[in-house]
This record gives sequence, structure tokens and C-alpha cells, in this order.
Amino acid sequence: MSLYELFTKKGPSGFGYGSTAEQVTEGLSLAGKTMLVTGVNAGLGHEALRVLALRGARVVGTARTLEKARAACEAVQGDTIPLACELSDPASVRACVEEVKRRGLQLDVILCNAGIMALPKLEKAHGIELQFFTNHIGHFMLVTGLLGQLTETGRVVMLSSSAHTMAPKEGIEFDNLDGAKRYGDWRNYGQSKLANLLFAKELSRRFAGTKKTANAVHPGVISTNLGRHMNAFMTATFSLFGWIALKSIPQGAATEVYVATSPALAGVTGQYFADCNVAKSRPDADDAELAKKLWEVSEKLVAALP
Ligand SMILES: NC(=O)c1ccc[n+]([C@@H]2O[C@H](COP(=O)([O-])OP(=O)(O)OC[C@H]3O[C@@H](n4cnc5c(N)ncnc54)[C@H](OP(=O)(O)O)[C@@H]3O)[C@@H](O)[C@H]2O)c1
Repeated sequence: MSLYELFTKKGPSGFGYGSTAEQVTEGLSLAGKTMLVTGVNAGLGHEALRVLALRGARVVGTARTLEKARAACEAVQGDTIPLACELSDPASVRACVEEVKRRGLQLDVILCNAGIMALPKLEKAHGIELQFFTNHIGHFMLVTGLLGQLTETGRVVMLSSSAHTMAPKEGIEFDNLDGAKRYGDWRNYGQSKLANLLFAKELSRRFAGTKKTANAVHPGVISTNLGRHMNAFMTATFSLFGWIALKSIPQGAATEVYVATSPALAGVTGQYFADCNVAKSRPDADDAELAKKLWEVSEKLVAALP
């Protein structure tokens, strides 16, 4: 496929690699809808916040601190509610859940966008490898805590990544969640992104018989702060070749915003999307036993957290 074809090709949805978040929501009114987005102070989350609010949604925008969330919300037009949610701090996640409940917010969308990538050295939160904790456990706590606030047709959207294919062969290393036996920057990022995907699939199974949906997304490869921990070789490769094949931030936010809002996706659940179309994930992302085990292990872990 030529670069021209890559950038301009549209899939069955009518959108593709080059579509932007504004384009996938053009003509759509989100008035009356409330949507929570994590990680709104930077990158794709900030663009998602901007475009969802632009289309009339009330957006609950979370960031690690209230100051960051406030600054992000103040930078966009529309109806926004800033909240703190530090995903590696269970007390902060619980406080965010409680605040959403206290305000009586009914959520049409929970968009789990925040994340960290490729930490060069093993770091931990509460004894768990930090990428797994931040990207998966923090969001697991947030979403399961807010399930009662989801509207009848509520959507949960998980930011996964094509890097989920870099997860260990066995999927999730349940005997190594602290990273003590083995650790690799991309391997563990991949594991956390496979966990995001398995969580969406399991949640979708648990939504069976309702109109609620859960899907996962690969946004593309986009130059954002996410790359700040990458090693010198990867950074150099991206700066040499990135201009050819990196999406812009408006293009990178398109798939998550599309899956969160498109009327065409009412009832579509348990899918993995890339470039605004259903895509193929690693085969074991469909392993229902693995997904169930991840849910149960996550529940136990969360129950033991301070
Ligand atoms: N960019 C890509 O090429 C790419 C590719 C595949 C998947 N993704 C996924 O897309 C999502 C968005 O990434 P991005 O490219 O927009 O990255 P980004 O610019 O680095 O933004 C990430 C956001 O997550 C927040 N965050 C990080 N750790 C957090 C924590 N412990 N608690 C709460 N918030 C936290 C960041 O807050 P701070 O600014 O305060 O750190 C920031 O708001 C991520 O889930 C990522 O894995 C991105």
C-alpha cells in the first residue's frame, strides 16, 4: 500500500487512518450526554476532551491532579467538569468515583485514555509493576466503581494499543505481576495493553443482555508525551522516520472518539478498533478464560489495596 493510500483509505465505517476526531463527529450533537475521559491534560485525551465538548457533551475530564484537570478544562470551550484521578493511587481513584456519585452524574461514556509507556526500569505501585497498575488496575478500579453510574446504553472505551502483541506469549504473567522475575519496557507495556483489551472483552461479556457496550481501541502511532520514557534508539528511530507514518494528534484521537460516540456503533461490543474500523487483535485477546482470570485476579488485588 502506498503512503497516499494509507493516509486516504477509508474502511467500512467511512473513516480511516487519516480521519480526525472532528471529522468522525461532524454533524453529531452530543448535547445531553455526559462523558468521563481520563488523562485530559495531554495528547489524545486533551483532543478527545476538546472535540467531545465542542459537540455539546458535558465532559468530566480527569488528570493526575485537580490543577492539571482544571487547566485542561479551562483550555477548551464547552461544558466540562475537572476531577483528580491519579490512577496509581487507589485513594485518588476511589475519591474520583465518589465525587462522580456525589454529583449524581450519569455517564454515557467512560473513556479510559490515560496511560504510560515503556518505562526503562522496573517501577512499582503497591507492589505491582507500574504500567500494569496505571494502565490496567487504576482503570479497572475506576470503571468497576462507576458501573452503577453508566446509562442504559452506556459505553466503556479502553485505550489499548497494537503493542498488546508485545505482551508475553502466555498473555498475562499472573505469577510475575510485580515484575520481579522478568521485566521488559515494551513487554510489560504490551502486557498492560493486552490487559486493557481483555478487560473490555470481559466487561462486554458481563454486559450481555443489556444495551451497554465495551470496546478497545488502538489509536495509531502518534508523537505525544507518551514517548518520554523511550530509550535513545527508539527516540532516534521515531524522529528519523516519524514524519512519514505518524498520525497527528487530531487523527490519533479519532478512533477513541468515534467508538465513544458514533450512532452506527449502538450495540456494537467486545470489539477492537483501529483507524475507526473493527480490526484484528492477537488471538488470545479472545480467550474468555484468560479474561475472566484477569478480572478475578484484579478484583482480589484491588480488594487488598489500602
Ligand atoms: N501515542 C501513541 O502512539 C499511542 C499508541 C498506542 C496507544 N496509545 C495509548 O493512548 C493513550 C493516550 O496516550 P497519549 O499518546 O495521548 O499519551 P500522553 O500524551 O503521554 O498522555 C497520557 C495521559 O495519561 C496521563 N497519565 C499518565 N499516568 C497517569 C496516572 N498515573 N494517573 C492519571 N493519569 C495518568 C498523563 O498525565 P501526565 O501528563 O500528568 O503524565 C496524560 O494526561 C494511552 O493509553 C496510550 O497507551 C498511544
